[in-house]
Amino acid sequence: MRGRLISVEGLDGTGKTTVCAALAARLEDAGVRVLRLREPGGTAVGEQIRGLLADPSRTLEPRTELLLFAAARAELVDTVVRPALDEGTWVLLDRFVDSTLAYQGAGRELGDDTAGAANAIATGGLLPDRTLLLLAPAAVRAGRMDHRGEAADRLEQAGEAMFARTEARYEQLLTEAPERVRAVDASGEPDDVVRLAWDATADLLEAAATSG
Ligand SMILES: Nc1ncnc2c1ncn2[C@@H]1O[C@H](COP(=O)(O)OP(=O)(O)O)[C@@H](O)[C@H]1O
Ligand SMILES: [Mg+2]
Repeated sequence: MRGRLISVEGLDGTGKTTVCAALAARLEDAGVRVLRLREPGGTAVGEQIRGLLADPSRTLEPRTELLLFAAARAELVDTVVRPALDEGTWVLLDRFVDSTLAYQGAGRELGDDTAGAANAIATGGLLPDRTLLLLAPAAVRAGRMDHRGEAADRLEQAGEAMFARTEARYEQLLTEAPERVRAVDASGEPDDVVRLAWDATADLLEAAATSG
């Protein structure tokens, strides 16, 4: 049986990476074969592109940024994600196509059509079976990022207005694609957030179990 594709989305500091790791562990405990990947990255060329995109000493045109993300995604989808799904492995993605709509489409103001076109080229239309949108107030996110103690990369250096547009576009997904995209309150303790994330994917596991 084909694997399931789950993406985890949200602004920095909402806890995406933490939730992905915990969800992967819980799925494995449930007997599911899981591959956990981050975007951009997950392939040799994708990790190099990640370095280009994060480099704080570089400036990039918004379209250049869009296409670099798309290039990394195309490589990941074709060489890793589709083969894994085909062999029945579940794939857990730390960011995917909705990041492009939110950050490049809305945040960088390239527009939905342009961001969507790049996504279509990169994925050939592959969409997640479920997307968890992690939501937490700005002060909570900022506190966690300070705690993480890493310097801001190029993408994290954008202004407040850009993040407000990005967040608004993310939230629009909840009404646009309510079957696929589920809000997860990410403001609580890690265990609570993970429990909510698990609950928001449980139906996929049940469906997979009953369809053999
Ligand atoms: N629910 C939580 N409560 C408190 N700290 C958290 C929580 N989730 C994650 N963290 C911590 O906050 C920081 C950012 O979390 P991370 O998972 O890296 O977020 P993201 O991947 O969305 O940027 C990390 O240091 C992480 O350990
Ligand atoms: Mg992360």
